[in-house]
This record gives sequence, structure tokens and C-alpha cells, in this order.
Amino acid sequence: MELVVLLCAVSLLHSCEARESSAVTPVFVQKREDVLLNVTIADDPEEDTVTWRFNKTVNLVRFLPGNLGTKVSDDYSGRIEFLEKYSVKLKNLQEADSGVYTAVVSGDKEKQITEYKITVQDPVSPVKLSVDSVSNSSDWCNLTVSCRAQDSHINSTFRCDTHTHTCSQEGGERPQVTPSAADLHVYLSNGYIICNHSNQVSCTKDIKIIENVCPRHAGPESVSAGLSVCLLKTAVLSVGLIIMVAAVITVHLMEKLKKHK
Ligand SMILES: *[C@@H]1O[C@H](CO)[C@@H](O)[C@H](O)[C@H]1NC(C)=O
Ligand SMILES: *[C@@H]1O[C@H](CO)[C@@H](O)[C@H](O)[C@H]1NC(C)=O
Ligand SMILES: *[C@@H]1O[C@H](CO)[C@@H](O)[C@H](O)[C@H]1NC(C)=O
Ligand SMILES: *[C@@H]1O[C@H](CO)[C@@H](O)[C@H](O)[C@H]1NC(C)=O
Ligand SMILES: *[C@@H]1O[C@H](CO)[C@@H](O)[C@H](O)[C@H]1NC(C)=O
Ligand SMILES: *[C@@H]1O[C@H](CO)[C@@H](O)[C@H](O)[C@H]1NC(C)=O
Repeated sequence: MELVVLLCAVSLLHSCEARESSAVTPVFVQKREDVLLNVTIADDPEEDTVTWRFNKTVNLVRFLPGNLGTKVSDDYSGRIEFLEKYSVKLKNLQEADSGVYTAVVSGDKEKQITEYKITVQDPVSPVKLSVDSVSNSSDWCNLTVSCRAQDSHINSTFRCDTHTHTCSQEGGERPQVTPSAADLHVYLSNGYIICNHSNQVSCTKDIKIIENVCPRHAGPESVSAGLSVCLLKTAVLSVGLIIMVAAVITVHLMEKLKKHK
């Protein structure tokens, strides 16, 4: 019984995240790394050819029907590794490998089985967070910071109240998309100013402690103007977990009570 409740709760949590039922699976791969092109075919098409294709036109590899084996295209020789059945590993991806990968079964007609949209990304550059100016009074400490990445930078202003020991970010978080399509943003978290530079495959950050910049102004209970998506997700997940554990305990207690009767 407990197990059932637990499983239900887990599957509920999962269904929140895995709502991505479109036919194309987006995949992000760091440059020079490998990708597994997975495919499962319900009934094995022994009479037909199965082909992995790039951008709908270029064949990577063909699984020939019968016992005729496999044929890797010259352009991809040395870069394909065979896994289970029709799944393959494509190695050492470069920017030019970004595009659409499809698995196609060709018999009397062509039928597409799987489609991945692969984007190859460089890891993001390091960031440097610096304090540009501090203005100080008995009531306030205001500071502006800037965060520099290789191809962009971002500014932000923070205001700390001496009396309430709280800081806030003026204008909230304003994430910026860099020319290389990475995300650059500065935010406040537990008395720290954090600059975060991230894309789908990597993340770099730099941190300043507000107390070192504005002594006696910033308390540990500094609040952020906007909650980051990441934090929100964690919060939702934690609440879910608590509910789950509560449910398990309740059921357990109820069963015990029943036994006593
Ligand atoms: C293929 O499956 C493996 C193992 O389940 C997984 O790690 C990998 O991310 C999958 N590849 C793609 C492109 O989704
Ligand atoms: C493959 O298709 C993508 C768009 O889907 C395009 O950006 C890319 O340039 C194409 N690559 C080649 C080598 O044709
Ligand atoms: C801010 O004020 C404090 C106390 O008045 C002082 O010690 C500190 O040097 C000031 N800092 C700046 C950057 O003006
Ligand atoms: C800090 O900013 C607030 C609001 O803009 C302003 O009222 C205050 O005078 C500023 N304090 C200093 C020391 O610049
Ligand atoms: C950052 O601030 C400087 C001046 O303080 C300004 O010239 C520059 O445009 C700002 N940059 C951004 C990205 O807001
Ligand atoms: C930086 O941002 C990314 C994407 O928004 C997030 O996944 C990551 O946890 C953040 N890192 C830190 C240290 O906040």
C-alpha cells in the first residue's frame, strides 16, 4: 500500500517535468563530445533498410536488410560506433554537426521513426564580477556591479537598507542573452551577489559577498527581488517530496491503527 502511494507520488512529480510530447527531441551537446542516437523499432524491419540521416539529405549509416551488414558513409567513417540494434554513437561533434538527425526505415515506402534536433555548443567563457561604485550613507548602501564575459557584459544596481538589513536588486533580475546564445545574469542570494553565465551544456559563475562591500548594511536575510527559476523548481520539488513523505506516513499510521483494532 505504502509503495503504491509512493509510486503514485513519484509518477505525479515526473509527469510535471516530462511534458514534451513533440516528435522532435531537442538535444544539446558540448563541442568535441559524443552523442548517442537511440532508436527502438517495434517490429524489426528485417526486409527493409534502416538509415540514420542528417538534415534529411545526408546518410550517416545504413543497416542493410538481411545479413548484408552496415554501411557507414565516407564522410562519417571513424566517427560512428555501433550500439544495440540500430542505435549508434556519433563521436566528436563540431558546430557543423548541428542539425536534424532522423532514423528512417525504407521498404516499399519511407517511414521516419525518430527525430533529434541536435545543437552543438561551446562551453561558456569564464565571468568576472566587479563592483563599479559604492555610495554610502547612514541609511543606505547602494552599489553597482558589472559582470563581464568574453562577448558581453551586464550591469546591475543593488540597494541595501541599514535599518532592516535587507538588500534588493533594482529592476529585478534582467537576464541577458549573449551573442553566443548563452544566458548572462546577476542576482542576489543569501547575502551574495552572483553572476551566472550559462548555456545548455555548461555554466560559469563569479560571486561577491555583499557584507565585504557594504559592511554593517547587509544582513544574512537579504532578499532577492526575483526568485530564480532554478530556485523555484527546487522549492516545488521539495514541497512535492514533503507531501509524498507525509502521505506515506499517514498510510502507515492508518494501517497500524487498523491492526490495533
Ligand atoms: C540515448 O540513451 C542514452 C541512455 O539511455 C542517454 O544517455 C542518451 O541521452 C540518449 N540520447 C539522446 C540523443 O537522447
Ligand atoms: C542542417 O540544418 C540546420 C537547420 O536545421 C542548419 O542550421 C544547418 O546549417 C544544416 N547543416 C548543414 C551542414 O547543412
Ligand atoms: C561606508 O560607511 C562606513 C561607516 O560610515 C565607512 O567606514 C566606510 O568606509 C564607508 N564606505 C564607503 C565605500 O564609503
Ligand atoms: C540609495 O538609493 C536610494 C534610492 O534610489 C536613495 O534614496 C538613497 O539616497 C541612495 N543612497 C546613497 C547613499 O546613494
Ligand atoms: C553599464 O553601465 C555603464 C555606465 O555605468 C553604461 O555606460 C553601460 O551602458 C552599462 N551597460 C549595460 C549593459 O547596461
Ligand atoms: C546558473 O543558471 C543555470 C541556468 O539558468 C542554472 O541551471 C544554474 O543552476 C545556475 N547556477 C548557479 C550557480 O546559480
